[in-house]
Amino acid sequence: MAITFEKSTRTFYLDGHNVTYAFCINELDYAEHLYYGKRIPHDSLLYSRTIGAGSFDPTPPGKDGQIGYDRFPSELTFFGNSDYREPCVHVENATGDRLCEPLYVGHDILDTKPAVHGMPCMTGGETLVLHLADAVSGFAADLYYTVYDDADVIARRVVYHAGNSAVVLRRAYSFSLSLPRNEYDCLSLYGNWAKERHIQRIPLHHGVVSIDSKRASSSAVLNPFMAIAERGVTETHGEVWGINLVYSSSFVLKAQGTNDGTTLLTGGIQDFDFSWELAAGDSFETPEVVIAYSAEGLGGMSRAFHRVYRNHLINQRFVNATRPVLINNWEGTYFNFDTPKLKAIVDAVAGTGIDTFVLDDGWFGARNADNAGLGDWFVNEQKLEGGLQPLVDYVHSKGMKFGLWFEPEMVNENSDLFRAHPEYAIAAPNRERCYTRHQFMLDLTCTEVRDYIVDTVNRIIRMYGIDYVKWDYNRNVTEFFSGALPAHRQSEFSHRYALGVYDLCERIINANPTVFFEGCSGGGARFDPAMLYYFPQIWTSDNTDPEERTKIQYGTSLVYPLSSMSCHVSAIPNHQTGRYPSLHTRACIAGMGATGYELDSTQLTEAEKTEIQQYITTYRDDEELILHGDVYRVEDPFTGNYYGVAVVSPDKARGMLTVYRRMGSVNNEIKRVRMNGLDPERYYTIPELDITLSGAVLMNIGLVPKFEYGDFQTLQYHFKAQ
Ligand code: GLA
Repeated sequence: MAITFEKSTRTFYLDGHNVTYAFCINELDYAEHLYYGKRIPHDSLLYSRTIGAGSFDPTPPGKDGQIGYDRFPSELTFFGNSDYREPCVHVENATGDRLCEPLYVGHDILDTKPAVHGMPCMTGGETLVLHLADAVSGFAADLYYTVYDDADVIARRVVYHAGNSAVVLRRAYSFSLSLPRNEYDCLSLYGNWAKERHIQRIPLHHGVVSIDSKRASSSAVLNPFMAIAERGVTETHGEVWGINLVYSSSFVLKAQGTNDGTTLLTGGIQDFDFSWELAAGDSFETPEVVIAYSAEGLGGMSRAFHRVYRNHLINQRFVNATRPVLINNWEGTYFNFDTPKLKAIVDAVAGTGIDTFVLDDGWFGARNADNAGLGDWFVNEQKLEGGLQPLVDYVHSKGMKFGLWFEPEMVNENSDLFRAHPEYAIAAPNRERCYTRHQFMLDLTCTEVRDYIVDTVNRIIRMYGIDYVKWDYNRNVTEFFSGALPAHRQSEFSHRYALGVYDLCERIINANPTVFFEGCSGGGARFDPAMLYYFPQIWTSDNTDPEERTKIQYGTSLVYPLSSMSCHVSAIPNHQTGRYPSLHTRACIAGMGATGYELDSTQLTEAEKTEIQQYITTYRDDEELILHGDVYRVEDPFTGNYYGVAVVSPDKARGMLTVYRRMGSVNNEIKRVRMNGLDPERYYTIPELDITLSGAVLMNIGLVPKFEYGDFQTLQYHFKAQ
């Protein structure tokens, strides 16, 4: 039993792999948090409560000075009887008051985790459903908790229910969680286009630290992730709680340092520009939040996320499968291609090990530049003479798979679709639409629009026997309004947009179960767990420069597995930065994820093709590590001149270490890189050095990499246990 209810103390103990989560039902029937951390026995934890009321603390009747509402570390913070911290839920009752007091009314322990309706979530086993309800209004909240025996995480979410009268949800977050101190650091992943998921660390303070999106997309600006860590936490030492939302629309995550010396964490669907009307008896499901705990620093947190996402979240049809090593024509041709050119690109990679050709943007409608054609999902026969089929057949005849680019959620003003159905594009009454990349967004809150997209995209996939789809999304919502919603429900738009995206994914991705779908959003601007549920890998960034990629991939690995990151080798000078890294460096850094190529292969020399063939052979040999290995970050490119990431098989029989030096300099410092994750007792052969050493030596003394002369140099080592 992973979930136990100790009746005498009314305490729930939820035991995961190495973690325990505990809370009690207190004397007022509140769900009061006690502990989330390293696994502990089921002692009574009531001695550790700190609920005494101080001055200005509102108290229940008859408890003046004894129990302060403001002090309970609540499993569901709420507004009304004057807990002044960030509420998890804020509800407007039919009477107009905004009070609710969800108290314990019962619980269920389920053998299997129920799915969230209309939204992706993790699978899982034993699940506690805690039933809370407000005695006055009948408003209720069911809190779901799932623990895992293979990873140190807990999955939480809430289902809110209106009672006998309608209510308006002004805020409907997914969780609240209290941590025992307030001297923590907060880490988050910030960025921009071509600069996704850089790591930011700040100290928490009294007051609220908040990260969010108001774009109806998870965004490259801030990922729906926050880690709260012991001050000075390192990759290997210190306590960390990592929070990640399984959600792709506007979100918020908050950490509040409170006056009683604790920290309150809460968040979920962004409540700015949000409200949701719940008719009497109706329910509202929130997205899931995954909360990882590590006593072994940031590395432990990452490995917990990676493991649980691979085992329970990421598209289970493909997550463990060998990945395509593809050639994509985007940086090779942009919009300027025809069938002979594409065939030549395919021919040029013969024998290299590349097994998939992906035809990127520009194959449809009047798409000769980014200002026309989106929405017109029929083949541009001016570029592809005779249609798409001859090209698909040609690629298949070479023993390769065929991939195709779509941007299903979008439309250009200059398109047949927009001319026929301008009402399909998001717009607000009497206002001009904003442009981004000359395009508008389709209103996915509207069933007719979704049906159109599903029909046209599925028709192409099936008609041509497409094996692989790259699903792009190159702008964010501006006019948050839907013609399909009445005026008083317009603030439901951003969440309904997400539900529309998931509906498309169900009806396109899950309806074509053998087709491999890669996610993309102008690079990695929608890289979140909900997308990974559908897309086994996501294009990590439009920035393909390995120097920039070391940071982007290092930051992304804080939460997401290596196998979820699409990483391509591109041409030099790099199209984003103008740098000239060697093919070796480009291949090694792109090899730290789901690797591929994105260049005009007809320009490659024979020597380069031979080199590429060797890189792909090595990559295939290492693929098990990329797919299933445990990641250990050993050199931080944000704080030093080096990037170092190791990946070790779960049985510790194999490992691989990639180290990269940004700038060379004369009279270089001596660099030692300590390996991590190996078995200290075992001996490992390192073919690159022709040496055999114990795990203990490799992890305590480390290697002394001898980089080549010059900047942007990379070395790779493999470790094979004897
Ligand atoms: C986005 C993607 C690129 C490419 C272009 C095509 O920017 O991130 O990889 O597909 O769109 O327009």
